[in-house]
Amino acid sequence: MRSHWSGRLAFILAASGSAIGLGNIWKFPYITGENGGGAFVIIYLLTILIVGLPIFIAEVYIGQNAQKNAVSAFNVIHGKPSPFRAIGVLGILSAFLILSFYSVVGGWILSFEYKVLTGAFTDATPETISGMLGGLLGDWKSLLFWHTLFMLITAGIVVGGIKGGIERGAKILMPGFFVLLTLLLFITMSLDGFGDAFAFLFQPDFSKLTGKSILEAVGHSFFTLSLGMGAMITYGSFLEKKEQVFKIAIAVCALDTIVAVMAGLVMFSVTFTYGQEPSSGPALMFSTMPMLFSQMTGGTYLLAAFFALVTFAALSSAISLLEVVVAYFSEERNMSHKKATVIFAGIIWAVGILCALSFNVLSGVFDFFDFFDKSTTHVLMPFGGLLTAIFFGWIIPEEKVYGIFGGPTTAARCIRFISRFIAPTAVAVVMIVGLSDWITG
Ligand code: PFF
Repeated sequence: MRSHWSGRLAFILAASGSAIGLGNIWKFPYITGENGGGAFVIIYLLTILIVGLPIFIAEVYIGQNAQKNAVSAFNVIHGKPSPFRAIGVLGILSAFLILSFYSVVGGWILSFEYKVLTGAFTDATPETISGMLGGLLGDWKSLLFWHTLFMLITAGIVVGGIKGGIERGAKILMPGFFVLLTLLLFITMSLDGFGDAFAFLFQPDFSKLTGKSILEAVGHSFFTLSLGMGAMITYGSFLEKKEQVFKIAIAVCALDTIVAVMAGLVMFSVTFTYGQEPSSGPALMFSTMPMLFSQMTGGTYLLAAFFALVTFAALSSAISLLEVVVAYFSEERNMSHKKATVIFAGIIWAVGILCALSFNVLSGVFDFFDFFDKSTTHVLMPFGGLLTAIFFGWIIPEEKVYGIFGGPTTAARCIRFISRFIAPTAVAVVMIVGLSDWITG
């Protein structure tokens, strides 16, 4: 018997747990900072609406309808060995690559949590704080230790299965996360830099957009919604067939977007208040938050809570990445869920070592971390999403698509039209332009 989520709310929590993660709190603010702010945000929001939402609906529907893992789901729906199962195969590859670098960043967060709890930030000067991430990246032994711990916790949750592991984890991790993020937003609203942060995020300057930043926005919309690599197909496959996908999908996409914008406001308010550069890259979150809290009474507790919650968000995403791989191998290769978890967590951990060493031992040799990040976000995920939109728009019969919306409503027609024409064209054009821009540098 296939396991199922205990209900719609459990699915929403688990799926938003997958979607909301480092992509929202760590990556969205720093790539927005690197790409000039408002104009980038507008492209990102548009992409979520016209590409992300339809593909999200498509993926959950495919999984739910087929009740199968990301590869076999396409065969079930197509009624024959489908060439579209390549989406699932590429998805498993993406999940491997993403989790290997995601776990390394998860490790940074665990390490910062440890630093907070052991008092490393008490009375630290801004200079000390901004050097902390660099210090950690140079220390390969620590990086490996924290990466290993992060992977162990992830595997420990996935081993528990759908209801006992993933659902239970999401039910604890997600509500706590929302409460703390809201609290942080209230705190940062009173900072001097809040107005500047608001303007930075919402006043577009289109002269700052390049082909590369548009590719970045499109790629990120896939990354942040966990699309184009089988995660939502896998999670959808544990959803009872009677559940209505449309409203659930809107809820998850909206939550993910709101969290990213909130995290952006929080991060940039601090950045502008303390005279930091918004374009400081991956280090942004690791310096802004400690800077804010180290100067506040009771700040240590808040900082500890902040990193704990980023850990929660990262874990609830990491488990979905691992489950894509585990669901496939346990279903198709006659392996128990437990055994598949242990084996594949081990292999991904080993690949992750290359990412951790990219910052130190391998520095100047090859940057696996950046390569895995860019090749999944810029190529594999958009490509997977493009094929999914084509499958949904052209292969699944019209009445089935309309059935998702309870009939041929305007929303149903819009989504189908977008999946047939707009999403594939937009993603294809952006991939070609962006890739040539990326390669020619
Ligand atoms: N959506 C996650 C984030 O924003 O951090 C990253 C992610 C998780 C991507 C799961 C893909 C995935 F399957």
